[in-house]
Amino acid sequence: MSTEESKERVLSGIQPTHDSFHLGNHLGALRQWVALQDTHDAFYCVVDLHALTIETDPKLLHQRTLASVAQLLALGINPTQSTLFIQSHVPAHNQLGWVLECITGFGEANRMTQFKDKSQKSGADRTVVGLFTYPILQAADILLYQANQVPVGEDQRQHIELTRDLGQRFNSRFGETFTIPDAHIIKGTAKIMDLQDPTSKMSKSAATMAGVIELMDAPEINAKKVKSAMTDTEREIKFDEKNKPGISNLLTIYSALTGQSIKQLEENYSGKGYGDLKKELADVVVGVLEPIRNSALDYLKDPAQLQSILKDGGQRAGSVAAQTLRNVYSAMGLVARG
Ligand code: TYM
Repeated sequence: MSTEESKERVLSGIQPTHDSFHLGNHLGALRQWVALQDTHDAFYCVVDLHALTIETDPKLLHQRTLASVAQLLALGINPTQSTLFIQSHVPAHNQLGWVLECITGFGEANRMTQFKDKSQKSGADRTVVGLFTYPILQAADILLYQANQVPVGEDQRQHIELTRDLGQRFNSRFGETFTIPDAHIIKGTAKIMDLQDPTSKMSKSAATMAGVIELMDAPEINAKKVKSAMTDTEREIKFDEKNKPGISNLLTIYSALTGQSIKQLEENYSGKGYGDLKKELADVVVGVLEPIRNSALDYLKDPAQLQSILKDGGQRAGSVAAQTLRNVYSAMGLVARG
């Protein structure tokens, strides 16, 4: 058995819906992607087909997809270690998606809270069917690669549960075909909050970007956002998510970026003010994000290199996916072309 075969698999995906990833994506998921590639056989994809559920200008989608790949490389995804690819390069995602749609109950799909939230926001007339079937395509992304672990933030937990249910249902109806994956969610950083509205998660679709730290923003913009983060009117720097969500979020981010424990930070800042914490955290954030931004901008200067990485990743992903799809079709009784 080769080492790749003996390693457990991970798969995860991210949508190219915006010009930049944000700090929530980084701390909730992407950091884990980078760490797991050392110990796992890793498959990571930019899910451009999922991004079609939001109306986007074609030029922008194209640009954002390449910018997403550049950011993943800048964050430390190593394309010789991990299989980095674009979802639409592997048609088996749609093919398995259809099969899974045929074993998903309508009511089951209707219970997905992300669909409810997003469709409520845009209204019934502007909600597309693709948004409804979105989690089923996500299940196909995962099951195709026989992934053991799926590193994601808290907001994806329900989608991974659905994936597990569909995989188990298929296996019990048609015979063992899929590995049943576990969500890999890191408790402390699974839900990074918006800096202006610390009771809502940091999100690409926030009404205003004032509380969203973007990886591709200029350092001075990010420093300013941290310094003007919403906090309460007290003075004490203490982790208390219920009563002090703003300060707690800043401590979470500080701790995640520096490796210092929250307790240690509380001690260091005892007797100091919120202004001190924000100023120092602004330096920490800029110190971590500026080199990532610079590196992503460098990768974007060489589109041929990005294309070559994606070609290679697409081929590797495609052959794993094609094998699973053949097994699925055969298990269901579809006649092979021969
Ligand atoms: P997406 O593109 O919205 O987000 C990418 C990853 O970032 C995590 N995340 C957060 N983590 C902590 N705090 C936050 N505020 C925060 N905001 C976002 C998300 O949980 C996610 O892990 N449906 C997925 C994309 C997808 C996928 C997949 C993921 C498609 N196929 C297969 C895993 C496996 C999504 O919309 O992620």
